[in-house]
Amino acid sequence: MAPPTLRAVDVQIAPSLLAADFANLAGAARSVPSAQWLHVDVMDNHFVPNLTIGPPVVEALARTAAQRLDCHLMIDDPDRWATEYVAAGADSVTFHAEAARAPVWLARELRAAGARAGMALRPATPVDPFAAVLPELDLLLVMTVEPGFGGQDFLDSCLPKVRRARELIDGSGADVWLQVDGGVTTDTIDACAEAGADVFVAGSAVFGADDSDAALTDLHERAAAARRR
Ligand code: DX5
Ligand code: ZN
Repeated sequence: MAPPTLRAVDVQIAPSLLAADFANLAGAARSVPSAQWLHVDVMDNHFVPNLTIGPPVVEALARTAAQRLDCHLMIDDPDRWATEYVAAGADSVTFHAEAARAPVWLARELRAAGARAGMALRPATPVDPFAAVLPELDLLLVMTVEPGFGGQDFLDSCLPKVRRARELIDGSGADVWLQVDGGVTTDTIDACAEAGADVFVAGSAVFGADDSDAALTDLHERAAAARRR
């Protein structure tokens, strides 16, 4: 199925399938028609202590879902594996800075393969050492929980890094989306948006709601209003 044309929006919500029913991922995708992206959490039991999905499931999702796929690789050795997710149908692939041996080469490889290139930072990883990498990226992900599990409490201590990342991105002049992931709910999304994030991953807050699409639309409206302030 062809993905919808991307709207020119200033904020986006990427619902995380980690909080969806893994026995019915196609249904989960259909339950959020307002989403332009689906966030797919790939975990390898090495980089994080959890094991989720790999290329065959990404390939199946790409065949069924109307949305574009945003793969968040919480895996060791992304230099070796990341492009397999582009081949499987991911439109955006985010590797962890802590796991990549050569982030610049990897970002270039992802772009050359036709995907958007993202780089993620764990809560304790500072952003400043990566300032020079920003022009190589399409997305910077500032984790707002320790990666590995959904449904954790948002870490307020990460907000100064979101603010700093926004300054560095604006200063670089590069068109880099600033994504936050982990504990993003109606209680925390305003602070993320005010700090400068423009892409918000939400798992439990969307798929834990009775009406996932309404929850997503509510988060979107809140974030857009907070960004305008
Ligand atoms: C955590 C994942 C997140 C997770 C977010 O390691 O990267 O994408 O699904 O889930 P919530 O929104 O429930 O914190
Ligand atoms: Zn994620």
